[in-house]
Amino acid sequence: MTTNPDPARSRAALVGCVFVGTSLDGFIARENGDFEWLTAAGDALGETGYDEFFASVDAMVLGRGTFDTVSMFPEWPYQGKRVFVLSRTLLRSDAGESRPDTTMHATLGDVIDALIAEGRRRVYVDGGRTIQSFLRAGLIREITITRAPVLLGSGIPLFGPLSGDVHLRHIGTRELGAGFVQSSYEVLG
Ligand SMILES: NC(=O)c1ccc[n+]([C@@H]2O[C@H](COP(=O)([O-])OP(=O)(O)OC[C@H]3O[C@@H](n4cnc5c(N)ncnc54)[C@H](OP(=O)(O)O)[C@@H]3O)[C@@H](O)[C@H]2O)c1
Repeated sequence: MTTNPDPARSRAALVGCVFVGTSLDGFIARENGDFEWLTAAGDALGETGYDEFFASVDAMVLGRGTFDTVSMFPEWPYQGKRVFVLSRTLLRSDAGESRPDTTMHATLGDVIDALIAEGRRRVYVDGGRTIQSFLRAGLIREITITRAPVLLGSGIPLFGPLSGDVHLRHIGTRELGAGFVQSSYEVLG
């Protein structure tokens, strides 16, 4: 006898993970997209854990804003990783076709269906609005935030409105170099 996978169970098996850098006041980039304030410290940060984290996920979901940024990098930074991009506008173009293992999806529901259809479990979710969408859908389970010692006053926020409180368990906080502080949380519930 064959059994169809239960969609609710398949969805519950998804582990959305956030690994992000912010200003002390919670912005992931300036309004114009600049994040030099985050990267300027370079190697002075020491070991951030990013490589280990990146190796631990079996797919990425990016918002179009983040896809646009990484598309300008000299090298595609997600070589060897399956990438799902959330975008209505790019779906109507061929922007993603030149990127390896990358597909475009118009809605959160579409991207979740695609993740489940491919059996993806541990997923790196990146981009402010995309993280917020996954959080509201209850699909973020792990959050690591590396805070830069700077106040920007305005910019693109990491978090946004929620339909209710989201409780987290603090796993740990450590000091990196150059005054950066990294905290990890498990999302409860
Ligand atoms: N500091 C860091 O660690 C870090 C990490 C990642 C990104 N960034 C920066 O953050 C900026 C991008 O952030 P962002 O908040 O603009 O967001 P984003 O999540 O990267 O992109 C937003 C876009 O994604 C699509 N999207 C998001 N949620 C959707 C949903 N539920 N359904 C359908 N489409 C959805 C939409 O694209 P369409 O309009 O095409 O439909 C939306 O305009 C960039 O400047 C990037 O460099 C910083």
